[in-house]
Amino acid sequence: MELITLNTKNTTYQIGVEPNGFLLHLYYGARTEGDMSTLLTRYFRGNNGVPYDHKGDGTYSADSLPQEYSCYGSGDYRNHALRMADASGVQGADFRYQSHRFYEGKAEIPGLPSSYGKEGVGSCEIILTDARLQAELTLTYGIFYEEDVITRSVSVKNTGEQALWLDKIMSMSMDFLTGEYQLIHFWGRHFNEMNTEITPVGHELVSIGSRRGVSGHQHNPFVILAQKECGEEYGSCYGISLVYSGNFTIQAEQDQYCQTRIQAGLSDEMFHYPLAAKETFYTPEVLLAYSADGLTRLSQIYHAFIRDHICRGRFQHIRRPILVNNWEATYFDFTGEKLVEIAREAADLGIEMFVLDDGWFGSRGPDDRGLGDWVVNEKKMGGTLDSVVKKIKSLGLQFGIWFEPEMVNEDSDLYRAHPDWALTIPGKPPVLGRTQLVLDFSRKEVRDAIFAQMTAVIDSTQVDYIKVDMNRSICEAYSYGADYQNFGTLCYRYMLGVYEFFERLTKRYPDLLIEGCSSGGARFDAGLMCYTPQIWASDNTDAIERLNIQYGISFGYPVSVIGSHISAVPNHQNGRITEIDTRAAVAMSGNFGYELDLTKLSGEEKDKIRHQIADFTEHWELIHHGLYYRDSSPLEQKEYCAWNYTSPDRTEALLTVITTNTRANSPVSYVRCRGLDRDAMYRCDETGFSYSGNILSSIGIPLPIVPGEYHAFRFHFKKED
Ligand code: GLA
Repeated sequence: MELITLNTKNTTYQIGVEPNGFLLHLYYGARTEGDMSTLLTRYFRGNNGVPYDHKGDGTYSADSLPQEYSCYGSGDYRNHALRMADASGVQGADFRYQSHRFYEGKAEIPGLPSSYGKEGVGSCEIILTDARLQAELTLTYGIFYEEDVITRSVSVKNTGEQALWLDKIMSMSMDFLTGEYQLIHFWGRHFNEMNTEITPVGHELVSIGSRRGVSGHQHNPFVILAQKECGEEYGSCYGISLVYSGNFTIQAEQDQYCQTRIQAGLSDEMFHYPLAAKETFYTPEVLLAYSADGLTRLSQIYHAFIRDHICRGRFQHIRRPILVNNWEATYFDFTGEKLVEIAREAADLGIEMFVLDDGWFGSRGPDDRGLGDWVVNEKKMGGTLDSVVKKIKSLGLQFGIWFEPEMVNEDSDLYRAHPDWALTIPGKPPVLGRTQLVLDFSRKEVRDAIFAQMTAVIDSTQVDYIKVDMNRSICEAYSYGADYQNFGTLCYRYMLGVYEFFERLTKRYPDLLIEGCSSGGARFDAGLMCYTPQIWASDNTDAIERLNIQYGISFGYPVSVIGSHISAVPNHQNGRITEIDTRAAVAMSGNFGYELDLTKLSGEEKDKIRHQIADFTEHWELIHHGLYYRDSSPLEQKEYCAWNYTSPDRTEALLTVITTNTRANSPVSYVRCRGLDRDAMYRCDETGFSYSGNILSSIGIPLPIVPGEYHAFRFHFKKED
């Protein structure tokens, strides 16, 4: 058997090419030498799933061998990765290996965002063909050696003259010969994203995904397949992060021989894609990582990778401006004068940017009208936008503004002029979300019209930042455009349109900071992060609920992509009252900002804000670029929630603790601070004591007992000489 071996610094991935042209998945895990086909067995499997060229050999079963990319029709009856049909709709494929090659660097995926890298990055491409379908399948692997990440994507080309049909095409599929696994995944809803759930993978399909046209609040397209015993600091685990923001599916199950298969890629629901002669279809990319040392290491691989090989542009590595956003301060009830008042306070406090949220355009406010008309409402603003922006900028602030380009209200000039630009189904009243419809971004003319409106505003007012929102899901997958009428193509084409739109924006404005948003975290994925180096993680700004959301996010995404603000109390979403220090400690674990009416604060609160801004500015490098450690789990229902950042050279660490459950005469909580040099001593700014790195890492420090809940503690440790 010919072997194709991909090595990163600490991992090995091996594929075997059978003499019959089948590709077998031999191994993915800790770096290993040798031929892993020795793990394969050929037992009699009831003479089932035998490819024709093995006729008579009952020990060769495609249904039990570990497949690298299983196709429907090959004799593998398990959950397959590819299902294709010929022009007359006859499903069944038989792809066989033709060739493979390694090359330096990493190719882009046409129309789709993907990871990038230059030095030390290589790729491998395996080509298979199907003689009946006249199609060519390419499996592409990116090998990030230092980063310990392997990427996968797939393309299929129709090399014949007849149209073909794609009914399922996963970005990756992987088989494990042995082991008991559980799937760690992240579910949620609006205001309550990224809850961590652990589901054992047994003999039924564990399946998460989205059929909403966006990746969604309900399931995040990042999962971990972990060995049963895996914890933060020990055990084997695999991460799968999909670089895609639309309909997806991730599925895992054990087969009849207790082998585990996991797959990730485009959802095959609402997918029925005609592949014209000579056309090539590209799947989104997945980012795979493996840790032999538990979940912390796996998360740190993703943190560094998303920061360095997914995010891009001027703001990739620099501190983003500390902002104040007027949404929770005013909602729609503002005037230009009110905005300037808030901005004046902001400038006085040391805030660096003012962001004007929803409500500044067309007939907007309330939220059942105006989307689609990106023309300044000068009556409301009391003059041109430019005049207001000039006043704000003269205070020394930068200026940002909100858009929701993919949406339209029926009550808008755009909809009245172009009702066919919205996704609706002829003869069926459309389903509404926040009284709005989705614009057909699969159509270039629609994107062009919105792009022209947006750029007119951005250009005329010299905007420094935009928040790009997307506040409803797609329900009517029907296009009135000339090309894409089909429900089976629309959601994919829509995403290609959205990505093309972001590509254009980022190319035209390389210095513009773009924050993604989708009713908070409904499009919080590595796909969007290729364009927006930060994403508003949730519309829930309550510090305590955010602990759980930001905990979930930390498994697959770095702190530097999270948008996180201090808002007013009682909190607008749940009515909870927390101290401003607690709100600050949580909001600083992200791109720090404020979202409240600064003109209504007390003198004491203003002093605290000045202090917070200085504090964040001092520590942001450690927070954004340090190694992130979870020091507690909400799943364990401890008395506190804690996490720390440790500088890569281990000379410094910042530990944050929030008490979440107060009890009288309670046992002492010892909170660990991880990642330190165990042989060194560290001095703590707050307690004034010196601690050994070993004790901080293994036992921790005792928390003072403070009455009341939701108290924040911060401990900054510096290595002693
Ligand atoms: C969404 C966003 C909020 C805010 C509102 C404005 O809900 O997530 O942050 O921008 O829209 O309508």
